[in-house]
Amino acid sequence: QGVRVKVPASTANLGPGFDTLGMALSLYSWIELKPADRTEFHLYGDEMKGVPVDKSNLIYKVAQMVFDEAGESVPELEISMYSDIPLARGLGSSASAIVGALFAANALIGSPLSEAKLFDMATALEKHPDNVGASLFGGIITAVWDGKHADYIRIDPPARLGTVVVIPDFHLATSKAREALPAQVNLADAVYNISRSSLMTAALSAGRLDLVRAAMQDRIHQPYRAPLVPGMPRILAEAPDQGALGVALSGAGPTIIAFVDRDDRRVDDLKAYLVKAMEAEGISASCFCLD
Ligand code: HSE
Repeated sequence: QGVRVKVPASTANLGPGFDTLGMALSLYSWIELKPADRTEFHLYGDEMKGVPVDKSNLIYKVAQMVFDEAGESVPELEISMYSDIPLARGLGSSASAIVGALFAANALIGSPLSEAKLFDMATALEKHPDNVGASLFGGIITAVWDGKHADYIRIDPPARLGTVVVIPDFHLATSKAREALPAQVNLADAVYNISRSSLMTAALSAGRLDLVRAAMQDRIHQPYRAPLVPGMPRILAEAPDQGALGVALSGAGPTIIAFVDRDDRRVDDLKAYLVKAMEAEGISASCFCLD
């Protein structure tokens, strides 16, 4: 009588939509919860190394939050997890673990909590709604959070929109990538981002892939994170001329995402360009297409 959930990875920001835009990606984690006599863990896959296997485990703690919120008691759990989502690369691995734990724990007790409630809980844990919203609802989401409650709209990705990810083989902690950001931004940069984030949301809703290049620009986080991701400034400048519709740092990085038109024959050339641009900085990277 266990519950198994499959949760997608996600990319946050999509360039200008810092802490507000997110998109689910076809790379997954699986989490299974079962009531047990004694809490135990089965963690599979390279990405699980170093994950705690006692009650300090994030999945265990998040599941207990769901039970407390619902007034239920399931103190001992058998927890199994497998993940293909690389850790600390800007692909929402922690958001997927949180969403999987919330959703599975809620399902285990008959789903008393609404999805809106799970979204609020997930956002409070992550402190921004972009990755968790995409992992929970799928597709593209635009969301706001007031510190307690998150509101969102889900957008179906345009049929011809493809995503290429280039994942460098080093970790970058989100905390470190957030510490690099300034406490304040100037009005011109704020306007620059608000206008592009709005255009991006509308362009994705309307399937206007021709506007992605103009919309997918940012001045409030990527410039400050550039020193942490060698090769990023060059890729952001050059990739649109190598077949990308637009290009951005994925979440807090170091992964970079490029949007492409699925019908564009230059996608393989773009992938080769992205890997080479990383190699030029002495960084090896894997690069592939995701839905
Ligand atoms: N919006 C977040 C950031 C996503 O850019 O820091 C990373 O978790």
